[in-house]
Amino acid sequence: MAKTISGFSKLSKRQKIEWLAANFFENPAEAEQGLLAWHRPDEQQQKIIDGFTENALSNYTLPFSVAPNFMINGKVYAVPMVIEESSVVAAASSAAKFWLDRGGFHAEVLGTVKLGQVHFRWVGKPERLRQIFPELKAHLIATSAELTANMQQRGGGLLDLELLDLTQLEPDYYQLRASFDTCDSMGANFINSVLERFGDQLEFFIETTNQLTDQERDVEVLMCILSNYTPNCLVRAWVECPEAELEDLARDAGLPGHAAVDRICTAVRIATIDPYRATTHNKGIFNGIDAVILATGNDFRAVEACGHTYAARDGQYRSLSRARVENGVFRFELEIPLPIGTVGGLTALHPLAKQALELLGNPSAKELMMIVAAVGLAQNFAAVRSLVTTGIQQGHMKMHLTNILNHLGATEAEAEAAQAHFCRETVSFSAVRGFLEAARKF
Ligand code: MEV
Repeated sequence: MAKTISGFSKLSKRQKIEWLAANFFENPAEAEQGLLAWHRPDEQQQKIIDGFTENALSNYTLPFSVAPNFMINGKVYAVPMVIEESSVVAAASSAAKFWLDRGGFHAEVLGTVKLGQVHFRWVGKPERLRQIFPELKAHLIATSAELTANMQQRGGGLLDLELLDLTQLEPDYYQLRASFDTCDSMGANFINSVLERFGDQLEFFIETTNQLTDQERDVEVLMCILSNYTPNCLVRAWVECPEAELEDLARDAGLPGHAAVDRICTAVRIATIDPYRATTHNKGIFNGIDAVILATGNDFRAVEACGHTYAARDGQYRSLSRARVENGVFRFELEIPLPIGTVGGLTALHPLAKQALELLGNPSAKELMMIVAAVGLAQNFAAVRSLVTTGIQQGHMKMHLTNILNHLGATEAEAEAAQAHFCRETVSFSAVRGFLEAARKF
């Protein structure tokens, strides 16, 4: 059987599906049906989705959900979320409601600087390069002006350009580090285009300037690419209220007085000192963040990569959130870099991403940063609150029960009976199967 092929991308979608079905599936007809079943009936819509990647065969569906009641800086949002984990939206919604009654979420953008690098090798005395850098910089700015003009008109563009001498770490290795403001766009294509122009013009300048000798004219540009680590594209979100207003947290969990708040603060401190816990703690934050990032057509890999590097910025991976009680006031906060956009890229192309942004009132990139951070914080609050009170499985398995029931083909009446039964019982796959088998015997 032919498991390899050349020219696959040139085949039509139907031919690709037929070839895959014939070579990789036990039942080719069923496989073809399976892939084709998820196609949009509207040809035009399908064409848009197919255009996102090479070799698109079908559509992979995830639920587009919403978490209502998010009050952020006094404005109420219903936040769109795309995620497969059953309890995430429920947890975000419950935390949003909880804080709605306690002043809502607060958020501020601390910076919007994005970064890019030109990595190059040059042989010579570093001070010679430093000497010519002001002129080189002016040349790079001038020769990239046509690329940056538009962004500059929108209030952004190139902010600064530095020369970094890294020859102590790698022989002859330097960097041009450029900082940008990309306004409401994520700006990856803009930044990379400008960086590639810098790379070309760096070579041109070094090879032609009369300030260098013939031996100094050799420059090797290795890579021109944005950095996904943008510690100064930063947002802070927080909730706060008098500790006394949180007593019901303890009461609901059968704990005395301020015990729940004390346990939440301790749990967050543990995530600050222990990387094993920090990773799970931050994963909970990204449950919320990624879901909004996906719904709004942003790049969740960029956001994840950046957030995790930021979490390790002092050399140890730590919690992205902090919690404390000061003068009787509980404050829970999240600080996270979020390099995202609300124009360009998929935001306008993907029909549901477009609708997600409309649902949020077509926010600016800064406003979206605050919304996303608030959802990350809500998710973290909900997870830690459950962990230190009831335990996480109660909520998780309650939500997962629906998946198990669907998997076992439960009827509506059976599902209703199971929901009632498992209010009091521990949910597991075998327990639910046992329950259905017993019910079906009657
Ligand atoms: C599960 O997806 C996320 C949690 O593990 C987060 C946490 O432990 O803080 C519940």
